[in-house]
Amino acid sequence: MTTAQRHTAALAALADIVGPAHVLTDPDLVAGYETDWTGRWHGHAAAVVRPGSTSEVAAVLAACTRHRLPVVPQGGNTGLVGGSVPMDGELVLSLRRLSEVTEVDPVARTLAAGAGVTVAQAQRAARDHGLDFGIDLASRDTATLGGIVSTNAGGVRMIRYGNTRAQVLGVEAVLADGRVLTRWKQLTKDNVGYDLPGLLTGAEGTLAVLTKVLMKLVIPGDATQVALVGIDRVDDALTLLGAASRTGLVLEAAELMTAAGVDLVARHTATGRPFTHAAPFYLLVEVSGPGDIESRLLGVLDDAGSLVLDATIASGPADKLWRYREAHTEAVAASSRTPVVKLDLSTPHRSIGRFIDDLTAGLSDRFPQLRVICFGHVADGNVHVNLLDVPAASQERVTEFVFDLVTRYDGSISAEHGIGRAKARWIELSRSPVDIDVMRDIRTALDPAGLLNPHVLF
Ligand code: MLT
Ligand code: ZN
Repeated sequence: MTTAQRHTAALAALADIVGPAHVLTDPDLVAGYETDWTGRWHGHAAAVVRPGSTSEVAAVLAACTRHRLPVVPQGGNTGLVGGSVPMDGELVLSLRRLSEVTEVDPVARTLAAGAGVTVAQAQRAARDHGLDFGIDLASRDTATLGGIVSTNAGGVRMIRYGNTRAQVLGVEAVLADGRVLTRWKQLTKDNVGYDLPGLLTGAEGTLAVLTKVLMKLVIPGDATQVALVGIDRVDDALTLLGAASRTGLVLEAAELMTAAGVDLVARHTATGRPFTHAAPFYLLVEVSGPGDIESRLLGVLDDAGSLVLDATIASGPADKLWRYREAHTEAVAASSRTPVVKLDLSTPHRSIGRFIDDLTAGLSDRFPQLRVICFGHVADGNVHVNLLDVPAASQERVTEFVFDLVTRYDGSISAEHGIGRAKARWIELSRSPVDIDVMRDIRTALDPAGLLNPHVLF
């Protein structure tokens, strides 16, 4: 049988499983699944299949294994490393129809949901019970639970509740051969064997396809206060955060922005700039805690003296202040003449300031034609390096320059976005040969034919 005949037979089998209406082949319908949000990563899909239940996902994967058709699992397609778009004729397996929150248990503080439930949907369900979902990120209305678990997403609340892996209690997932793996216990303590939910978290769809997740919920902090503070140096942000923590304030979020980023957002959203005089850097910090947190936060800013160039504070959720941070992604995308090269990095805390200074100076020296906008989760040592106006011919050289620098700082080439297609060729900068061998062995053990998301990670 030729490849084309195999694909035709596979698509007929898939239509039998999910119904012809859920196997999309019309180029107009498929197009949105073939390109990522940034417009930088795209490819061609054999078709898009949209199963509506775990048993359909299992039958789809068994059929793909029989017909040797590679599969790219896809949730909200909001990832930033090209990890959920096909490259060359794979089947896109969309999990969006698994969109039901099946249970919120307010006593165990857990949420059970299909992989296609969005983060915003999970947040609403949790809040209906006086609880909250521990992950929050700007793409909350589209990003799905299957996607954030598959990529071990971080987001703006990581400083408070940890990353997605810390919230995963159980999973239901389908292996490449169609077997359904269920690790689903509402137990706080359960120490039997390997941590398979932890392993599937962050596996970027290479080990199994998640169909349901059992997530921990959190008790939200009481009222919060948000401050936007103009500062001279990145290290000043760390000094302020240390001082706030020492007074007993609980850090809910701590985000760094630059003058160039805030300026871009102000223009893009047609809002005013936050202060009369621009500061080189901005710290957006949200705090909670017992007592009068407003006066304690003001006390921290006061005690910091000339380190604070300017500041404004507001009661949470303080959407207007958060908008300066949350609109960064769309503002950089709208203002760049080329798809933005997005590099999500981390460094040890003590060196994040020096790293950003070196990076900015090095880039303007070597690549004067591009613009750089850095922002990110400063308390996690995580900086999102966004490179605008990068001609296609220099993308690789620029990426290599940035990755070399972060490696010299003993940092990571991926803090929270994952590896996907974007960073696969550089994975050895952050993992040793033996580490990579073990990861490859695990992948082969679970998916011997290499059908699941074949172009990501390695
Ligand atoms: C964020 O923190 O806003 C996200 O990681 C998205 C981005 O890097 O653009
Ligand atoms: Zn982020």
